[in-house]
Amino acid sequence: MTNKLINFTKDGQKIILNYQDQPLELTILTPEIIRVFQDRGNASNSYAIEGDKKIKTDFDIEDKGDHTEITTEKLIVKAYDDKKIDVYDEKGDPLIMDYRGTRTPIDRQMDKEHLKLAESEGHDVKKLLGMHDENYYEIIKTLASDEQFYGLGDKTGFLNKRHYAYDNWNTDNPDPQVESFTRLYKSIPILLGIKNGHPYGIFFDNTYRNHIDLGKESNNYYYYSAVDGNVDYYIIGGDSLKEVITNYTYLTGRVPMPQKWALGYQQSRWGYSVSQKQVEKIAENLRKYDLPCDVLHLDIDYMDGYRVFTWRKDTYEAPEDFIKKMRKLGFRIITIIDPGVKKDDGYKIYQEGLEKGYFVKAPDGTVYVNEVWPGDAVFPDFGRKQVREWWAKNCKYLVDLGVSGIWDDMNEPASFRGEVPEDVVFHNEDEKTTHRKMHNVYGHNMAKATYEGLKKYSGKRPFVITRAAYAGTQKFSTVWTGDNQSLWAHVQMMIPQLCNLGMSGFGFAGTDIGGFGADTTPELLTRWIEGALFSPLYRNHADRGTRSQEPWVFGEPTLSIYRKYLKLRYRFVPYLYDEFYRESKTGLPIMRPLVLNYENDPHVYNMNDEYMVGEDILTAPVVQEGQTERAVYLPEGEWIDFWNGVEYSGKNTILADAPIDKLPLFIRKNAILPWGKEVSHISDEPDKTMTFRVFGDKVKYTHYQDNGLDFNYQNGEYNLYDVEVADGHVKIKLAYQGYAHEYQQIIVKLADREVVFDYCDGEYVEK
Ligand code: NOJ
Repeated sequence: MTNKLINFTKDGQKIILNYQDQPLELTILTPEIIRVFQDRGNASNSYAIEGDKKIKTDFDIEDKGDHTEITTEKLIVKAYDDKKIDVYDEKGDPLIMDYRGTRTPIDRQMDKEHLKLAESEGHDVKKLLGMHDENYYEIIKTLASDEQFYGLGDKTGFLNKRHYAYDNWNTDNPDPQVESFTRLYKSIPILLGIKNGHPYGIFFDNTYRNHIDLGKESNNYYYYSAVDGNVDYYIIGGDSLKEVITNYTYLTGRVPMPQKWALGYQQSRWGYSVSQKQVEKIAENLRKYDLPCDVLHLDIDYMDGYRVFTWRKDTYEAPEDFIKKMRKLGFRIITIIDPGVKKDDGYKIYQEGLEKGYFVKAPDGTVYVNEVWPGDAVFPDFGRKQVREWWAKNCKYLVDLGVSGIWDDMNEPASFRGEVPEDVVFHNEDEKTTHRKMHNVYGHNMAKATYEGLKKYSGKRPFVITRAAYAGTQKFSTVWTGDNQSLWAHVQMMIPQLCNLGMSGFGFAGTDIGGFGADTTPELLTRWIEGALFSPLYRNHADRGTRSQEPWVFGEPTLSIYRKYLKLRYRFVPYLYDEFYRESKTGLPIMRPLVLNYENDPHVYNMNDEYMVGEDILTAPVVQEGQTERAVYLPEGEWIDFWNGVEYSGKNTILADAPIDKLPLFIRKNAILPWGKEVSHISDEPDKTMTFRVFGDKVKYTHYQDNGLDFNYQNGEYNLYDVEVADGHVKIKLAYQGYAHEYQQIIVKLADREVVFDYCDGEYVEK
């Protein structure tokens, strides 16, 4: 029977479409963002979106007989009977069209192994799949023959998500992460589409387990389904894919400016932190072998019996002295923390959390216990404000010792005696609910609490790394892609995975360089450190028990090549920092797929083995064993080979020479790159000079400078420099001046000469 659209009512920018059964609400947030909402009895608060994002927007609404039409400056929405909604851009190009037929389900093949395991643990598999959930719903959209999909966060596989299906249920699965995996640690349900050349986004803001099928089941439709929750999604328009991402990150937030040292190289391995001596040995080797590095990570062994917010005493002297000592050598210390609090009556954190009722509870009211590294452990109820504040306060312990950042791990939450059952009692702020609703935001809320703690007690820009995340976590934390393995498939996957994370708002992300599980080889490690050169988070990390993969263990030539790329990374740090500045304004990622810059070029829709950094750098890493040359597609424009200055015309595939020590790297002609110094680590002292390298002959570039540490930039303490090159002339202008440490000298390197400027009475004067 038809579910008739009877009429509509208006409440400010909210339009209530009155259907025979229940209303459907459309809220116009901006000319390009419209929320579609149907109350299904769930609280409607969002973890992804903070604050009211509605801005005053003009729109028209008209009854057109068979449909109601809503028009903003940028979008047209047509609502029909049966709650069918079609969305067009302002020119009338179809973007998101509800499907009029019914689904033709295929046997759900998702995660067979996982389901088998779940069944053996006594779970109701049908329920897990959501197939027989009374609150289950689906949203089915028409699929065009030329429709491409991107985004969705950290999913495995390839750049273009068309033909694949995924689940959002944060999961720690130790198997090698291949493209048949339907889910990983994060749930970031932002779907970016290009339909017949027209871009759009849909953000599904529902924390319950959900599923997205992008043309695996059918060539005619794609669909989203959730086991419960409200229908709550955002239609996002924009003239380009970039604008769609800018709009999405307007909604869910942007990666804030990081501390500058966080862009330096970071060394890690599970096992070092068992003793101070071991960590010191690593630090000593990094310096001995002349390997620039800013950060050493301490994995779980530094804790006393894996008790979070403690430090073992048997193998460490006073941790604050040790951290100071490392700092003198130029290393910052990042410590891991896990949400699982050891069940131990003699342990303060456990006792305190217990007394205050901060841990999640089994349905019978007893504190819920599962096993993690410390053995029996209990889990903070991060959905509650008081619990987040308590966690933030506990971070003070680490800040006071001198740690520079915190690594949040195991926060899906992972548990060794089977998944936490869905009926365990959690809170959504003050509302009592279940794990089923709060699972996908558990890591998000832990990261937020950690961020708040670091911010409050250190006064610095917090450096948090989290494994689990939800849409919007990018405001609080950088992410890494979890337990990859030392496999060629995984160095290859780094590119699409980080690019999709970037397009999903997570511009600050990285992989475990060298691979976490399994054993790396000198060649794989070399190609990884090369290929990850512009990965915003640049960290080598490995599992205990695997072959060591510090740069020196394989001898030459691995060591020298590794050193060469670490040094090159530091040269690019000022460019990366500029990209972070731009990202904080636009939401556009630092590391990005070619499709983001060239969405009208179908050649790059499925480009899995090249990426760009901002607008001006293109790299084509070698991701296959034994390869010493490779095809490189150069998009429209002119390109300069970074290594030898040879120029190429784009829209062309070239064969690039790629011996083991060479990362194929191209700079767009007419680009300027700020060029960092050769350093062993990023200094806290302001730079007195800056160098710019010019590629081409006519170009303008804006460079950003601040103290790289705290929040003073938010009060205007930063500088912007305009560097302009035209007709052989170079001009430098302080376009904005708010930071008292202007460069005293600026050197501009042209192809044939260097121009030096001195800072003199508020101006840069050519020498
Ligand atoms: C799992 C994390 O993914 C990994 O990076 C870490 O080394 C181990 N937990 C141990 O803490």
